[in-house]
Amino acid sequence: MKISASTKLVGLIGHPIGHSMSPIIHNALYQRIGLDLIYLAFDIRPENLNNARIGIKALDLKGFNVTIPHKEAMIGLVDSLDPYAKKLGAINTVKVKDGQLIGYNTDGQGFIKSLKRKNISVKDKSIVIIGAGGAARSIAVYIGLEGPKEIRIVNRTYDRGKVLANLVNDLTGSYIASPASHIPDKSDIIVNTTSLGMWPNIKENPISDLSLSPQTIVCDIVYNPRMTAMLRQAERTGCQIVDGTGMLIGQALASVGIWTGKEVKDEYWQIMQEELDKL
Ligand SMILES: NC(=O)c1ccc[n+]([C@@H]2O[C@H](COP(=O)([O-])OP(=O)(O)OC[C@H]3O[C@@H](n4cnc5c(N)ncnc54)[C@H](OP(=O)(O)O)[C@@H]3O)[C@@H](O)[C@H]2O)c1
Repeated sequence: MKISASTKLVGLIGHPIGHSMSPIIHNALYQRIGLDLIYLAFDIRPENLNNARIGIKALDLKGFNVTIPHKEAMIGLVDSLDPYAKKLGAINTVKVKDGQLIGYNTDGQGFIKSLKRKNISVKDKSIVIIGAGGAARSIAVYIGLEGPKEIRIVNRTYDRGKVLANLVNDLTGSYIASPASHIPDKSDIIVNTTSLGMWPNIKENPISDLSLSPQTIVCDIVYNPRMTAMLRQAERTGCQIVDGTGMLIGQALASVGIWTGKEVKDEYWQIMQEELDKL
């Protein structure tokens, strides 16, 4: 990687950050396509978030990604927000422009893109979303915008599921979303947006009690491990599965588009996917 005085810094802030695969996929892309950027991960404790914001402005980073636990807190620290990010109440991408921080949320777009690349459409489908946290919010709204038949939100804390369903209905202007206390027997697509199954708790599986139909498409946004206990169960049943690396790449490329203002080419996906396949 050639680093010169014109190389700009981008990166990721979160806590903890050691598990992140973002530096690997971003730097591989920049190197392959000759983008004069370098991507680093910064472990920022919540009490240091405002200092980080000041430092980012002073050092004139081009932009940065935001992950757990800062996605909501960062909303109050940026200078302006993309209208969707504002309504979602969480950001995962910030662009630095003329010393100002502008917040975006690319998680939902990334998830939808990962489905489209596998020729999966959510239009007119019955969708179950497990979880109602930050990632679920963005995914639920972007699924809602694609015209599904219905979205059932199953969350450990029922009331958070209710709040998310209301948000989807408000933003889409329809009554497609509702909270549910259990996963319905029949659905076209199930999406796990909780951290269940994530390393080191790899035996956790939010659908372990469910008698799955092989017609159901099963998606997990957890990407570490790539093959979660939930996806293994689905694969054994004969379901089509979608792992979390697609969303990881989709949201990463959407961030690159925001930072550079340039078109994100289809071949970029393949470059990032190849890097993840090596791990
Ligand atoms: N593939 C990607 O690109 C991508 C992008 C973003 C996030 N992710 C992954 O998505 C997961 C969630 O991230 P997030 O930012 O949405 O986190 P979050 O805002 O903290 O939300 C966590 C969600 O998981 C639920 N949950 C947590 N522990 C649970 C348990 N033991 N049993 C049942 N439900 C539980 C929470 O339920 P309550 O509401 O009841 O607390 C909440 O709905 C993480 O594993 C993250 O790595 C992947």
